[in-house]
Amino acid sequence: MLHGRRILLVLSGGIAAYKSLELIRRLKERGAQVRCILTANAQNFVTPLSVQTLSGEKVFTDTFSLTDEHEIGHITLARDCDLVVVAPATANLIAKMATGLADDLASTALLVTDRPILVAPAMNFRMWEHPATQANLATLKGRGVTTVGPNTGMLAEGETGMGRMAEPAEILAAVEGLLAAGPLKGIKALVTSGPTYEPIDPVRFIGNRSSGKQGHAIAAALARLGADVTLVTGPVELADPPGIITVRVETAREMLGACLGRLPVDVAVCAAAVADWTVSNATKEKRKKEPGAPPPVIELAPNPDVLATLSERGQARPRLVVGFAAETEKVLEHASAKLARKNCDWIIANDVSPATGTFGGDFNTIHLITRAGTEPWPRASKADVAERLAWRIVDALKGEHERHRLHPAAAPRR
Ligand code: CTP
Repeated sequence: MLHGRRILLVLSGGIAAYKSLELIRRLKERGAQVRCILTANAQNFVTPLSVQTLSGEKVFTDTFSLTDEHEIGHITLARDCDLVVVAPATANLIAKMATGLADDLASTALLVTDRPILVAPAMNFRMWEHPATQANLATLKGRGVTTVGPNTGMLAEGETGMGRMAEPAEILAAVEGLLAAGPLKGIKALVTSGPTYEPIDPVRFIGNRSSGKQGHAIAAALARLGADVTLVTGPVELADPPGIITVRVETAREMLGACLGRLPVDVAVCAAAVADWTVSNATKEKRKKEPGAPPPVIELAPNPDVLATLSERGQARPRLVVGFAAETEKVLEHASAKLARKNCDWIIANDVSPATGTFGGDFNTIHLITRAGTEPWPRASKADVAERLAWRIVDALKGEHERHRLHPAAAPRR
């Protein structure tokens, strides 16, 4: 199944584009999200309307459409996916990819993407056999691009030869093969996210401003790389990420119980903003204002520390435990102290003072602190931070070698 996997399908201008309509249908049936870019020539063979109807997504055709650029820039479009599929890939588009031309949306997206690329060539057999095409394909393969087909058979012009685009079922199998071989396949991951709410009474609680965006993005990124992910989340306004087991909790105690119930895992990432205290004199009924009475006194008791508890599980300790340090001052100093105090392996220090807009926002500026030292990461979207962290986890658990072997084209931006 391809549940929750995001595919960017680029259609260039060949008669085989009609087969890509069937490919879209099959990808959708398997649960994938399919966004499509049509070149100008592709639109001579299939219409944006048919592609849009089958994909259920807006179709992209032109780099300079102001509306598209407003809603989703071409760089985001090219990177916000798990795999780019080019089907049909004409000799022309393959040549552009090999030489790095970017004169329309399709070629621009292919030049800026950092995701794995699968190419399904489709062309006349003379074009296929031409040394230029073969050299271009060799260049692309050298850069980690995967190809499927072409097949031998009757071509559109009535000639027979090599150049028929692979059948939709073959392309689908190649897609599934590429995505299934995620470098974290077989790895169990646990991620905490969001705030916790500690009840004062049935209608009031102590909470915090965490949106859960960073934790949810980390869970989704680990799942995209093939991990078997459980997300334990406090109350957030985000949808459960697809392809992940999501356990919704309210309090810190419930979060700890849900996490311990998922052990053993290989890696735990504690991104939740867990309340440090619970209300020990919470009432079963709503607290009422008594005329003339002083305001109620709320008594607090410490909450368990999920991160520290996971770090001290002895035999059941995850191989890698990653914490966050949300700080508003002396960020690195406080974060390093937390790494030592909570006995985790890495800590991600982030400045959450109001001026940074981190809490609730879409961007994050972090430092990764490991036992080996401190790395500043450039300011990036929470999705990009998550992606980069997920690849660091691949490196830590499986080694650099495996990462390059499996996804040579998807090395993270460093
Ligand atoms: N954490 C946790 N359980 C808690 C408190 C914190 O698992 N009861 C985890 C958070 O998920 C995060 C890390 O510990 O990964 C640090 O959380 P943070 O709120 O920055 O620090 P605190 O430990 O709460 O310390 P302080 O409030 O003093 O900064």
